[in-house]
Amino acid sequence: MHIFANWKMYLDLEESRQVTQEISQTQLRKEVNTVIFPNSISFCEVKDILKDTDFQLGAQNVSWSPKGAYTGAISAHIFAQAGTDYALVGHSERRHIFGESNEATMKKVKSCLQEDITPVLCVGETKEDLENGDKELVLGEQLSVVFENVDLSAEDIIVGYEPVWAIAGSGEGESCSPVQAEETHHWIKDRLQNYVEDEVEVVYGGSVESDNVLSYISSSNIDGILAGHASANPQEFQSLISKVESTYDQ
Ligand code: PGA
Repeated sequence: MHIFANWKMYLDLEESRQVTQEISQTQLRKEVNTVIFPNSISFCEVKDILKDTDFQLGAQNVSWSPKGAYTGAISAHIFAQAGTDYALVGHSERRHIFGESNEATMKKVKSCLQEDITPVLCVGETKEDLENGDKELVLGEQLSVVFENVDLSAEDIIVGYEPVWAIAGSGEGESCSPVQAEETHHWIKDRLQNYVEDEVEVVYGGSVESDNVLSYISSSNIDGILAGHASANPQEFQSLISKVESTYDQ
């Protein structure tokens, strides 16, 4: 079970330090893989504060070229040197605000694999795609461009299903029910069997909070969650972690 904490640009450097200090005392169970994705400037400090804990670290975005004339970019290679274990690739905010293409996400996945970073490939349809009946078409393309062009086995990659309309701050303010999420996860896993032998893990993201996290993770096709705003608030995040961990108590 994964808990991915995407801090986006919610926390500045000082706030990242403070939140990290607060959560660093949290006892983590080995069954739950908890990964923090801080902003790039805070990354090394967050990593340092968490060095004696079981938290893992991830990059929110990587550039595909290892080095060179790419102003403003930070490559998977540089993140690997800084000790990153995971990287979000193709988050909807990268796709829709920063214009990242399917082709770019594919190159980023490749560069992560070259650096032994596990890519978390984010896919998701917009409200418009959904209303036009294009959800499966859009998800299918986001997946196929990566899986057709990169030699992958199931354990190399994790998929994050994040319906854009359910992400806090997307402007839609709607929620994707656990049943809807479960159906789409099932569809994604099924589709990926065309490319990889074993089952690919799929995590769900979109307004996951401590109050609703159990309803998502109780589904067998949901292998974890990707939390944005809820993970940037230390009390809320700790409560979310303990809810998830409580499922292993029985
Ligand atoms: P949210 O963000 O939990 O704030 O909706 C999730 C994400 O975009 O990863």
